[in-house]
Amino acid sequence: MKKLLLISSFLLLCISCKKEQTQQPEANVIGVVSENAMVVSAREEVSEIGNLILQKGGNAFDAMAGIEMALAVAYPYAGSLGGGGFMVYRLDNGEIGTLDFREKAPLLATEKMYLDENDEVIKGKSTLGAMAVGIPGNIAGIYASHEKYGKLPMKDILAPVIALAKKGVIVTEKQELRLKKYRDFIIEVNGDSSLFAKEWKANDTIKRLQLAKTLERIQKNGRDEFYDGETGYKLVEFMQKSGGIMTKKDLKNYQVRWRKPITFSYDDLRVISMAPPSSGGFCLQQIMKAIEPFHLDSLGHNTVQSIQVITEAERRAYADRNYFLGDPDFVSIPTETLLSETYINERMSTFSFKKATPSSDVSHGVIAFTESDETTHYSIVDPFGNAVSVTTTINGAYGSKLYCEELGFFLNNEMDDFSSKPGEPNMFGLIGAEANKIEPQKRMLSSMTPTIVEKNGKLFMVVGTPGGSTIITSVLQTILNVHEYDMGMQEAINQPRFHHQWLPDTVKMEPDGFSETIRNELTQLGYFIDVSESIVIGKVEGILVLPDGKLEGGADPRGDDKAVGF
Ligand code: DON
Repeated sequence: MKKLLLISSFLLLCISCKKEQTQQPEANVIGVVSENAMVVSAREEVSEIGNLILQKGGNAFDAMAGIEMALAVAYPYAGSLGGGGFMVYRLDNGEIGTLDFREKAPLLATEKMYLDENDEVIKGKSTLGAMAVGIPGNIAGIYASHEKYGKLPMKDILAPVIALAKKGVIVTEKQELRLKKYRDFIIEVNGDSSLFAKEWKANDTIKRLQLAKTLERIQKNGRDEFYDGETGYKLVEFMQKSGGIMTKKDLKNYQVRWRKPITFSYDDLRVISMAPPSSGGFCLQQIMKAIEPFHLDSLGHNTVQSIQVITEAERRAYADRNYFLGDPDFVSIPTETLLSETYINERMSTFSFKKATPSSDVSHGVIAFTESDETTHYSIVDPFGNAVSVTTTINGAYGSKLYCEELGFFLNNEMDDFSSKPGEPNMFGLIGAEANKIEPQKRMLSSMTPTIVEKNGKLFMVVGTPGGSTIITSVLQTILNVHEYDMGMQEAINQPRFHHQWLPDTVKMEPDGFSETIRNELTQLGYFIDVSESIVIGKVEGILVLPDGKLEGGADPRGDDKAVGF
C-alpha cells in the first residue's frame, strides 16, 4: 500500500513537472547486500579496513577503533586524532548505550573569549587557527570503547591503519576539489610548506608518514601516549607556539562519558540515539513524535503536505534546541517536559495546512545560514549481531585548518559550536543561548545524531550523517523514507532532502530535488524556499536489516562513500 502510494505520487510528480527538470533518484536502487557484516564509511579504503578487522574475528568495537583512525589517514577533511564524536551501540543481546568522546573547552577558556572590547564577535577566531581548538576526544573514545567491548588487541587493529598511512591514499576527484577549496586557508594558518599546502590533484598519492609515526607510538604506549606522553607534550607545545591555550592539564583531565541514550517509539519502531551534549537524539524525538500523528505514508513522499508537517515540526524543535540545550554536566535541561507528549502536541497545535507558521511566532531573530558535510559518519554491523553508529568530526572542513606537521593531523575548530554570544549565529547559522555558553571543561552542543533503530525488538537500521545543523533532519528523512515509504537503504539515502532549523525561516532544498510546482505551492502557503546556496544536505551512511536477515549497506552518492560487507 505504502509502495503504491509512493509510486503514484512519484509518477504524479513526474507528470506535473515534466519540463521542470526535477531530477528524481532512480527508484528501487539496491545498495551492497551481504550475509554477515557490513561497514559503511566516507572512503572505500576505510570501509575495507573495518571489513578486514571484522573478517579477522574482530567485533564492531574493534572495527570502530580501526575506522576512526583510518579516517584520519584517508579522510583528513573530517577524520583526525584531533577531533571528537559520539557512538551509539546496540549489542546482539539488545543492550544499548552511548559513548560521548566530544571535545571539551580548555581550562583557560572564558565566556567572552571570542568577543572584542565592544562585545562584538571577532570574525574567524572561533573557526580558524589555534584559538578555535577544543580538547580532542577521539583517542580516548576508541580506547574506552575497545577496553569495554573490544576483542582483538589494539596492536592488530592499528596495524593496517599504519600500513595505509605509509602506503598512502589516492586523491579522488571530489577530494581534489575540497583540497583546492580550502588550500588558501590552510596556507594562511600553517604557511606554504605543510603537507596540505601542496596542490594535490586527483590520482596523486598522499602518504601520511608523520601520522604513521604518531600511530606507531600510540600502538606501543596506548591511550596515555596522547593524553600524558610524548605525543601529548608535542601537541601542547605546538598549540602554544601556534597561539592557542591548550595545556598539559587539559589533556590529562580529558575523560569520555558513557551516557544513557535517548530512546523513543515511532509506530512499531524504537529509535535509539545520542543524548546531550548532542542535540541530535533530543531533536529527533521531538520532531518524530510531533509528526507521528499525521501518518506521513498517507500524505506521500516529499509532497507539499508531508514537507509542511516535517518543516513545522523541525521549526519548533530547533527553536527549543537553541534555547534549552547544552552540556548536561553544566546545565540542567528540562528533558521530561520538553519530550512529553503533552508538550509536543501543544507545540504542534498552532500548525495548519493552510499557512506556514512564521518563525517569529515561535521565537525571534534573523540570521545567516550555511551548511556543509564536513563531519563524517560510519555505521557497522558485525557478524555477532552488534551494531555501532558513530559520527565524528573536527567541525569545519579540515577543522581549524591548523595542521600539526610533526604529528600529522589537523586540529578541530569545535569551539565554534559553543554560543560565542547569545543570539549570534555560529558557522551553521545556529544561534545559542546561556545553556551553551563557553565554560572551562564544558562540552559544546552538537547536532550529531548517530542512531540505531529497532523494529519489533530486533536490529533494523544503523544510520547517521555529517551536515552540521542539517544532520538531524537528514537522519530523520532517511528513517522516514524506509519506514513510511518502504524504501531500501540505498534508495532512502539517494532521495532529495530538505531542511528547516527555525532560523533563518527558510526551507532549504537540494537543487533539482523538488519540482517547481511543489516549490511554488509551498511559497504560496508562506514558506520561504531556498535552493540557492545548498549543494548537498547530509551525506548519510546506513545499514538496513532486510526481511531475510541480510544486510543492505547504503553509502551516500553525494560523496566518495562506500559500503563493504561479507
Ligand atoms: O557537532 C556538531 O554538530 C558539528 N560540529 C558538526 C559539524 C559538521 O557536521 C560539519 N559538517 N557539516
